[in-house]
Amino acid sequence: MTKRVLTGITTSGTPHLGNYVGAIRPAVAASRDANVESYYFLADYHALIKCQDPARVAQSTLEIAASWLACGLDPERVCFYRQSDVPEVTELTWLLTCVTAKGLLNRAHAYKAAVDANAQAGEDPDAGVSAGLYMYPVLMAADILLFNAHSVPVGRDQVQHIEIARDIAQRFNHLYGEHFTLPEAAIEERTAILPGLDGRKMSKSYDNTIPLWLPREQLRKAILGIVTNSQAPGEPKDPAQSHLFTIFQAFASPDETAVLRREYAAGIAWGDAKQRVFERIDAELAEARAKYEGLVAAPERIESALKAGAAKARQKAQALLAKLREAVGLRTLVTLAPRGVANGANAASSGPRVHGPYKDGAQFKFRFEDVDGTRLFESVGFASGKDAGAAIKRLQSMSPDHLVVRTTSESEEAHALSLSLEASPDEPFAWLHVPPGVDPAAPVARIKAAIAAWQQAE
Ligand code: TRP
Repeated sequence: MTKRVLTGITTSGTPHLGNYVGAIRPAVAASRDANVESYYFLADYHALIKCQDPARVAQSTLEIAASWLACGLDPERVCFYRQSDVPEVTELTWLLTCVTAKGLLNRAHAYKAAVDANAQAGEDPDAGVSAGLYMYPVLMAADILLFNAHSVPVGRDQVQHIEIARDIAQRFNHLYGEHFTLPEAAIEERTAILPGLDGRKMSKSYDNTIPLWLPREQLRKAILGIVTNSQAPGEPKDPAQSHLFTIFQAFASPDETAVLRREYAAGIAWGDAKQRVFERIDAELAEARAKYEGLVAAPERIESALKAGAAKARQKAQALLAKLREAVGLRTLVTLAPRGVANGANAASSGPRVHGPYKDGAQFKFRFEDVDGTRLFESVGFASGKDAGAAIKRLQSMSPDHLVVRTTSESEEAHALSLSLEASPDEPFAWLHVPPGVDPAAPVARIKAAIAAWQQAE
């Protein structure tokens, strides 16, 4: 089975080296694996949570899209889209919201940090906290679960969000059947967190980033600004204490890293070490930088790649949502019949069989299952158990060819068929809901065959 890998980048800033190392580079590498189906998207709904500057959201979307393409993401191979071009994301967010424990969201790091900061400042706990921030993990769970991603490459700070997505998926599966794969976080162990200029994690919120596409000279200057200690040239330096070294390591091969390690021991001057780091990073980025500049200058190419990606994504998203809507009970009103398909869990019988009559509210029903436990139909309600039993008897003694099937409604979404007997064609004993894309002839043929097998066995 193909592994599905999915990740998103929030479009609220200018891509920096930390984004490149932590997300873009590993994602592009993984997307080249033939056994992987990749989904990469611009998380612009997420951007609205923390950024209410429309121009910035739009500019950031352009820059991030251009960055991924420049770094070698092939939009023909992967599904590369803008989150807001796939409205199924928001629909799924609601379905998930309704099964998400509020307490789970209370424990999310980003929300808790905001509450703690308010407490420190003596403010109301929720001062300045939008419901969007609170719901952030659910929106992210929808991103992931909509495509049943197995693996989600993220930075360490996002691991809790993947765990929350798993929790929500489990809860939904428990309530409505196995619809969701439980996603796993994939962290690039070597360089999960790139330090910024001041040594803390490189992050826009610390204002310590180095933008990814600085022109060469500016990149050099930025790297000169990385903090080091006051050790003089000639003094041996400890790579484990050096953020500069950690940054180098994120771009260098193990051999190159070993060389710099020896130079640290030999007392390389900080200025020389920085030059070394600059050259290594520039070598990795120069070609992509030229591509980036070309793309930003002609954004139509980016736009059409994103639109094509969204069309691909929506096709899959819509198929899943049709099933989910059915599962939770958002159904067309013309269907009374089968509640999804059992998956063989109770398939102990040796042939197709009838269950019932059983009570359903004030009525009595029976259902008919195939040999593998698939529920082929549930009967309409009868006034008494006796009436339901009589209907079963009639079914047992008729020829399956005398089954009358009428399509009573037809829409884009579904067909509804009524099943009745030739002797009483106006009294259907069951309604059948045929999902989108399924030829109604197939389930009818299956029901006829199952009835014939059942009659022989009885
Ligand atoms: N929250 C992620 C970040 O800030 C971005 C994101 C949104 C994401 N949806 C996602 C990442 C789904 C992975 C999967 O980095």
